Amino acid sequence: MVALTERVQRLTLETVALAHPEGAGETDTTAIRCLDWDRERFDIEFALDNGTTYNSFLIRGEKVALVDTSHEKFRKLYLDTLKGLINPAEIDYLVISHTEPDHSGLVADILKLAPHITVVGAKVAIQFLEDLVHQPFERKLVKNGDRLDLGNGHLLEFVSAPNLHWPDTIFTYDHKTQVLFTCDAFGMHYCDDSTFDEDLELIEHDFRYYYDCLMGPNARSVLSALKRMGDLPGVVTIATGHGPLLQYNLQELVGRYRTWSQEQAKAVKTVGLFYVSEYGEGERLAHSIAQGILKTGVAVEQMDLRTAEPHEIRELVMIALGVVIAMPPQTGDFAPTAKASLGTILAATHAKQSFGLFESGGGDDDSVHLLRNKLQDVGLTEAFPPILVKSAPTEATYQLCDEAGTDLGQWLTRDRTIKQMKSLDGDLDKALGRLSGGLYIITAQKGNASSAMLASWVAQASIEPLGITIAVAKDRAIESFMHVGDRFVLNILEEGNYQPLMRHFLKRFAPGADRFVGVKTYPATNGSPILAEALAYLECQVTSRMECSDHWIVYSTVDTGRISNQDGLTAVHHRKVGNHY
Ligand code: FEO
Repeated sequence: MVALTERVQRLTLETVALAHPEGAGETDTTAIRCLDWDRERFDIEFALDNGTTYNSFLIRGEKVALVDTSHEKFRKLYLDTLKGLINPAEIDYLVISHTEPDHSGLVADILKLAPHITVVGAKVAIQFLEDLVHQPFERKLVKNGDRLDLGNGHLLEFVSAPNLHWPDTIFTYDHKTQVLFTCDAFGMHYCDDSTFDEDLELIEHDFRYYYDCLMGPNARSVLSALKRMGDLPGVVTIATGHGPLLQYNLQELVGRYRTWSQEQAKAVKTVGLFYVSEYGEGERLAHSIAQGILKTGVAVEQMDLRTAEPHEIRELVMIALGVVIAMPPQTGDFAPTAKASLGTILAATHAKQSFGLFESGGGDDDSVHLLRNKLQDVGLTEAFPPILVKSAPTEATYQLCDEAGTDLGQWLTRDRTIKQMKSLDGDLDKALGRLSGGLYIITAQKGNASSAMLASWVAQASIEPLGITIAVAKDRAIESFMHVGDRFVLNILEEGNYQPLMRHFLKRFAPGADRFVGVKTYPATNGSPILAEALAYLECQVTSRMECSDHWIVYSTVDTGRISNQDGLTAVHHRKVGNHY
């Protein structure tokens, strides 16, 4: 194994000659791992605790293939390193797993260095690249099962994996080395010097978080890809586009993808989320809405109208209890198809469904309202007002989308909530209800987004370091602000002085609404709001989370705290039953 590391403002690069895990020697395959140590956010929803990596691979048979490139921020480092490994003009093929810029950001540079290279990808990927690079290039369109022989045994086979995580995704399997190159799938945003997944405990949180954010909304697509992977003769390494490569815990981690996706796919309630792939903000807004829906235990199936067949659109609308539609472009080449797709959606909707609409890119509001009227005429219930995004999205925009999605999911699961409130075992419910807790308000701020929640299931959990646990229902807006590394304030309410704050924060807020209007606050050291009327506050940082059925148990260390009234007592929440709050 040869490793080369060069630090440039915490952007470093590592090249590793991949060895066969069963000791059969090197594999003529080199991983080029671009380590982005300090990246704090990915797309939208993703606050990154551990940076990320962008992985690219060089396979040398008689012909040479490069699988993916890197983020443009690595331009010099990546190209210098690549030139150190090979004369780029000698690369025959550039395989594009998908076209998101974190992997295709240097395609134009590679084309300049290797003008005769053949770009290999799904049809949609190649179409998108044409717009991206503005120069002619040789291409080879591949479908599931297509093969490309590099010689010396390196027979590449392509696996169609749409929606993981963009519609144009393909995996590439090398029959000689049994390495499967999956780009986003099975990845994680985790940056450290380890090339592989030796330490499961270290990476499993990021692996799960990444799945929830990127793959959960496409669980059925994950299952389809897993089925196609099952047709391959055997995979010993999964070479991901982000984070460590999987060898040591490959079966375990692939198994987790299967289990999580099966759980999603089994969900009785599904929302169809229709959008038009533009490789940009629209997708990210759609993704935030999907995240919000998933929090409620409702499944989401995203469908790109650019690639979906009419019968697929119809089938999804028919099984869905809710539909979310991103307004497609009203002008341009795709407009007639988009119009026809909307017609297909409308024709398949029925009065028992609910819906939500959103539009980005400063498009035509009239068409949103027209579609809204038509859906309401059919009898559908509007789950949230149309989201019209007129300027570059911020944290608050994505939060609005997330909360709108949650509102839709909660509407679809309202029967579950009512059922929970019906007593199943009177004595047990009453006995459980005698567990009491204090009354607290959690407050948090991230960029220009903020949130707050009344909490009662709070307990001290450790002394060294000082730590507390809070149980947070999975469908709470504040949940997005309580991932590992996030900071928040726990405001402790005072007996005799808690009613106004409790009433305020128990209100149902519209998606994206500012929770702090009319409430006196001042900023904590960690940036979150402290409630001026609280008895005391603690500044906390999340260190770990444990999944407990319908709640997350969030363990946080306490950095600092203050009390405003030395004689004050904590307000106590006395309940009658334990089967709901
Ligand atoms: Fe890592 Fe979907 O790009």
